[in-house]
Amino acid sequence: MQSGEPSRTALAAARHRAAHQVLEHGRIFADPLAVPILGEEADTISWEAEQHPSGRRMRVFIAVRTRFAEDALAAAVERGVRQLVVLGAGLDTYAYRGVMRERLRVFEVDRPATQAWKRQRLAEAAIPVPSRLTFAPVDFERETLAPGLDAAGFDPAQQTFFTWLGVVPYLTEEAVRSTLGFIASLPNGAHVVFDYSDPPDSLPPEMRAFHDRRAARVAELGERWINYFEADQLRARLTGLGFSTVEDLGPREIAARYFPNRVASIPEKGGHILRAATV
Ligand SMILES: C[S@@+](CC[C@H](N)C(=O)[O-])C[C@H]1O[C@@H](n2cnc3c(N)ncnc32)[C@H](O)[C@@H]1O
Repeated sequence: MQSGEPSRTALAAARHRAAHQVLEHGRIFADPLAVPILGEEADTISWEAEQHPSGRRMRVFIAVRTRFAEDALAAAVERGVRQLVVLGAGLDTYAYRGVMRERLRVFEVDRPATQAWKRQRLAEAAIPVPSRLTFAPVDFERETLAPGLDAAGFDPAQQTFFTWLGVVPYLTEEAVRSTLGFIASLPNGAHVVFDYSDPPDSLPPEMRAFHDRRAARVAELGERWINYFEADQLRARLTGLGFSTVEDLGPREIAARYFPNRVASIPEKGGHILRAATV
């Protein structure tokens, strides 16, 4: 990403969410603001998506990861969580339409240029910024999360839910370790949902080819995938940091939950969605 430019992968992810509303009618994940925040006509969105049929897999993955995160968030709110941090928020719309939003103080964390662009998109789409939301500009590679959240009024004593969708693959190991360490250190507990991929050399040929095409595409956008995890090693690291619950859905578990009639054709390795909690 050019310094000072908004994230182009944030735009790409938002396009996938909007296309899911138009083409699949939000079957996995319904978001009434996905199209408005993008500022493009539904016909244009579906035409673009149909020109690139290979994008369907990523579109479905993005719909699933968002649905999984928001279901886990809803369950945590029912158990008393009142603070949400959306890490690398891009054009995420939870704070503006999520079912639990009235019960949450929300912090959106992203690089300043992406936040400025998002605020412009919100204004142009006439989506009001709720008073319970605060934008916290933080670059995970240049600073740690704690001071940025502190300056935004985050209360570290509150049990907190973090979503971190579509961000970890772009970060250095050190930035991921430091952010997970901060989350795990919160004294009254924390939950986090993020997605990651198995290392490319562990993928079966068809998934490897898909991965390489997507990786080349995001690299063209100036935002490289540089971070992968082995599931067992990641689980051990999370446990070592103090996460007592780790729920890691690999491709087959994702299929079993969201597309049960397709499990047989799904490879073992690929994209994962993970929920971890210290309480
Ligand atoms: C692929 S987008 C995902 C956006 C959003 N979470 C979603 O699911 O639509 C990646 C996001 O991570 C943010 N990001 C990437 N590297 C970052 C960094 N070092 N510090 C802060 N945000 C970063 C980008 O600005 C962008 O908003």
